[in-house]
Amino acid sequence: MRRKLYLETFGCQMNVLDSQLVLSQLRAHGYELASDRDDADVILYNTCSVREHAEQKVWSRLGELRAVCRRRPGLVVGVIGCMAQREGTAFFRKYPHIDVLCGPAELDKLPALLHNAVVARLEHGRAARQVALMGANVRRSATLDAAGDALESLDLSRSVSPADDAAQAYVRITRGCNKFCSYCVVPYTRGPEVHRPPQHIIDEVKKLVDGGAREVTLLGQTVNHYAYSHPDGRSTSFAELLYMVHEAAPALPRLRFVTSFPRDFTDDALQAMRDCRRICRYLHIPAQSGSDRILKMMNRGYGAQQYLDLIDRARDMMSDISIASDLIVGFPSETEEDHQKSLDLIRRCRFKNSFIFKYSPRPGTTAVNRFADDVPDEIKRRRNNEALAVQQAVSAENNRAMVASEVEVIVEGVSKLATRLAGAGSVELGWDKSRPKDPQLVGRTRGDQIVCFDGPASLKGQIVQVKIVDAQAMTLFGVRNQESGIRSQESEYRNQDSGIRDRCPES
Ligand code: SAH
Ligand code: SF4
Ligand code: F3S
Repeated sequence: MRRKLYLETFGCQMNVLDSQLVLSQLRAHGYELASDRDDADVILYNTCSVREHAEQKVWSRLGELRAVCRRRPGLVVGVIGCMAQREGTAFFRKYPHIDVLCGPAELDKLPALLHNAVVARLEHGRAARQVALMGANVRRSATLDAAGDALESLDLSRSVSPADDAAQAYVRITRGCNKFCSYCVVPYTRGPEVHRPPQHIIDEVKKLVDGGAREVTLLGQTVNHYAYSHPDGRSTSFAELLYMVHEAAPALPRLRFVTSFPRDFTDDALQAMRDCRRICRYLHIPAQSGSDRILKMMNRGYGAQQYLDLIDRARDMMSDISIASDLIVGFPSETEEDHQKSLDLIRRCRFKNSFIFKYSPRPGTTAVNRFADDVPDEIKRRRNNEALAVQQAVSAENNRAMVASEVEVIVEGVSKLATRLAGAGSVELGWDKSRPKDPQLVGRTRGDQIVCFDGPASLKGQIVQVKIVDAQAMTLFGVRNQESGIRSQESEYRNQDSGIRDRCPES
């Protein structure tokens, strides 16, 4: 019998990918996706622990389920992902209606856990409390052997279903993290940093491109630290991997990667970005703070000047590169002077955007054990707003400079924004008003800028050319250029690529 699964995902791209891999695996075990929680036989929350706020959302979902589970004793509820790993079996004390707990490093075991939980509910009418969590003494090795470990089977068996949104796909190149930034739970929840064999990555990218992917994003918590040691002693660096993937997937229009770590971002990786036309010139490279004192307390391993030097190097090599950052405000002991340094960093680096977070003390991290959370919440909130305002001004200026240019956009779908380009720009540019009005679509440029424009919903997943006619801090507005289509774009890439073959170290 096919079982209906409701799966809700919180957190970062790695969790989005985990959910896709879990779904692909569970489909093979007879599950199908339910769009509504009330239609499901199994409810899974794939959770995030990075800030308290992210956890609160899940606590409230689980609270709501209490009454539902009482009404439907056969319902199976599972918590997977970072919160399951962080909180562990304490979950069962707070929420006895939970059946399954599975950490992100154990997801290959999920079908078996769910099977046992379903049987316990159906045959014995009770929760079986199925648990798979990473042990505390896990070895922090850096590389996988050619066959990989048990979790690797999850990525390797990935199936691409025609029902999925296939155009934009994620592929992880590293898992886990060994950096232990003092505020961060990720090394504890995701476990050791593990680098996947290059051939596994290449095979997966090819499979996705054959299934319709037009943009592949390589994922890692510190993606540029990728380094694979082959059994024969050779090694593959991040830059080499970029060349290899780019070369192996000539029909892929866009290759990108996140998240970069500011230390050890070598020139060869920047060169790969410059040389390979289909690699998007976009870096998400979180600074976290502009103050050396705070960066040291955060255990980030670089100072503000080193960060600025990297941004300069990247811009010297690629004047059109688009750079985004993350910043934490209100880290323990952060003074106004430290805060001003972060604001100066935003102005100086002219980020495309910054994700700005209020420091959230996380249980088990070194920051929470060593430093008092002594910046009051109202000051955190004020600094957050100030940083957002500075970033907004920078983003608005960056975006205004793009008006009248033509950009390549991958269409993500119909825009949720109520604001429509109310005709002004379109009319001036000769929009045919006799046609029924298209919906507003939203997409992303190669530099990750958000673009809204009118067009048929059928363009979802396509790459189109858009002329920018208006700009706000968060969004560009444009009009589709219907003459230059995707075909000509792709052939242009192929032409520009010829010649990089001899620069690819592995080809
Ligand atoms: N691996 C990535 C980021 C992973 S977490 C990197 O190192 O850049 C995503 C972002 O959440 C971080 O960049 C940081 O800005 C923020 N973050 C992590 N822990 C946090 C905490 N305890 N409080 C507030 N923000 C946090
Ligand atoms: Fe967290 Fe630092 Fe690892 Fe990023 S690099 S995941 S911030 S510990
Ligand atoms: Fe959250 Fe885990 Fe990602 S804590 S940010 S889901 S790695």
